[in-house]
Amino acid sequence: MEEKHISVAIDGPAAAGKSTVARRVAERLSFTYIDTGAMYRAVTLACIRAGLDPKDEGQAVSLLPSIQIEFDEAGRTLLNGEDVSEQIRQPLVSGNVSYIAAMKPIRLALVEMQRKMADSRSVVMDGRDIGTYVLPNAEVKVFQIASVETRAIRRYEENLQKGIPTSLEEVAADVRKRDYIDSHREFAPLKPAPDSVLLDTSFLSIEDSVEAVLRIVHEKTGVSPSC
Ligand code: DC
Repeated sequence: MEEKHISVAIDGPAAAGKSTVARRVAERLSFTYIDTGAMYRAVTLACIRAGLDPKDEGQAVSLLPSIQIEFDEAGRTLLNGEDVSEQIRQPLVSGNVSYIAAMKPIRLALVEMQRKMADSRSVVMDGRDIGTYVLPNAEVKVFQIASVETRAIRRYEENLQKGIPTSLEEVAADVRKRDYIDSHREFAPLKPAPDSVLLDTSFLSIEDSVEAVLRIVHEKTGVSPSC
């Protein structure tokens, strides 16, 4: 009998801690983790590297045929085989990725890749439109939020740890700008799926957030962590 694959969709605004939580949930369930934001970031990086304008749809779309995005077993992001996991977190990429993510042809190409990735295995996929558009039949849908202040502090501390020079004000402004662009774009905007469970992590630690998602997964599917 064919094994049933389970999809866990985790959506929410920038810097809500989705990727850290999603990665750990995937580890605990032995599912594959797919960071769809990293894919939009990889296209943005490719665009900047090629000297193209990430606000110009024609220029950005012209790159698509020459771009291949994959994740290795450790979850690192590969752009045409090169590990770009660090470069895609640089402020220049963060400041431009919303423009790229608002372009319909780019979204259609990446969504096709994302659906293929979830086709043959159980996944935890995080992003903005996973529960509403990419995997509308996902067994579990979580909409993870946190206040702008909490999110800005988390992203600022993450940047500090990675040695990326930014100020808290700069990070808060970037979070607000991305919230606005992500939720006001015409195609597949950021919004909770009607059948998603809202998880506010403003006052939750990462471990508590992970446990909360695992409980939701268990309630919806009966699946428990393997470790
Ligand atoms: O989660 P993140 O900050 O790495 O996402 C980067 C950008 O990509 C962000 O502006 C939202 C966008 N994005 C999107 O539009 N759809 C997704 N499924 C994932 C990310």
